[in-house]
Amino acid sequence: MKILNPGDCIGIIGGGQLGRMMAVEAYQLGFKIAVLDPDPQAPLCQIADERIIADYSDPHAIAELGRVASAVTYEFENVDAGVLAELDREGRLFPNARLLAISQDRIQEKAAFRRLGLKTAGYLAVDPAAVREPLNQVERYPVIVKTARGGYDGHGQRRCANSGELQSVMDEWHDIPLVIEQYVPFDKEISVVLTRDQHGHLVDFGAIENHHQNGILDFSVSPAAVPDSIRDRAVSYAYRLAVELGLVGTMAVEFFVAGEEVLVNEMAPRPHNSGHLTIEAFEFSQFAQHIRAVAGLPLGNHHQLSAAAMANLLGDIWTDHSALPDFSAALAVPATHLHLYGKRVARAGRKMGHLTVLAESPTTALRRADQARKALTAPH
Ligand SMILES: Nc1ncnc2c1ncn2[C@@H]1O[C@H](COP(=O)(O)OP(=O)(O)O)[C@@H](O)[C@H]1O
Ligand SMILES: [Mg+2]
Repeated sequence: MKILNPGDCIGIIGGGQLGRMMAVEAYQLGFKIAVLDPDPQAPLCQIADERIIADYSDPHAIAELGRVASAVTYEFENVDAGVLAELDREGRLFPNARLLAISQDRIQEKAAFRRLGLKTAGYLAVDPAAVREPLNQVERYPVIVKTARGGYDGHGQRRCANSGELQSVMDEWHDIPLVIEQYVPFDKEISVVLTRDQHGHLVDFGAIENHHQNGILDFSVSPAAVPDSIRDRAVSYAYRLAVELGLVGTMAVEFFVAGEEVLVNEMAPRPHNSGHLTIEAFEFSQFAQHIRAVAGLPLGNHHQLSAAAMANLLGDIWTDHSALPDFSAALAVPATHLHLYGKRVARAGRKMGHLTVLAESPTTALRRADQARKALTAPH
């Protein structure tokens, strides 16, 4: 184990908003930040001490990051785990490369869930060499076909209502590994965000309730409106994954809640969009805890300060309207916290920022977050 001192540098692979929010916490503790990203304008590149402008999986760039940084972390999963092997061997990569490799491949990920006794939706792993066979094995529709690798925000997945639709998706994606997953008519989606430090201590942020639109997170609410027994089961599943897979840092685990069932959907070995509300709603946020874990420091407590709701601000708010979003109108809603990531170009579906509202209850927080976001685009 290595404890970082003030002035030491933390390397972050990926320069997006997650990296930027990690850096804000790292700066509070006096660390320096080096970022690796191909885009010099990326949110974290705007504020980092050192920029390495290169592809995420460029071995020379990773080696350079390893030279300038005492410890290295990443803000997204699609980094070639192989090029991180050296850093991992040196015990300077958090979370570890095996956990990253498992999380970036849905086939390995689901196999790990099952191996550890966690329930998932029914699924078939499809090897490109065996493309035709799985069709006969699908007994019930709808199903969701997902690319095994590279998917995010609903990209790389298709819902199929019948075998004809499944056939055409399989034809289109004939040369890549896929997962065919049973569609789950869930009551709720929840996530558990948790952090584990280098001594194995764990803290969690309870169950967070998530509402998606077109496969992209729209709102998150904390605490989730689920019975304690459901929450406890989800949290214990997340702990099992964290311990068994040797997590150091912050991770999120997504679940479908259907009646009494808690099915694990996927995990992300990094801070997560559904945990953004922890910045205001908890004494120590998912980013603060992550940086502590990476730096070999003790974690802060898991104390929740308030119920909260977060609304994502997608590029659509910029592109669908003639005027700029009216930020002052949104901020006029009491208790609105506005976060903008500094992205220069707004595109439909692109995460540009988010709003968090604290309130006495999760439902009030959700209503106010919705109100605040609507105020951004109200005619004025
Ligand atoms: N098997 C499923 N049944 C019902 N809805 C699903 C299923 N798989 C995914 N979804 C919906 O699509 C969203 C995104 O899918 P997910 O597997 O989490 O991929 P990613 O977040 O990587 O894009 C989920 O949060 C959920 O709303
Ligand atoms: Mg997801």
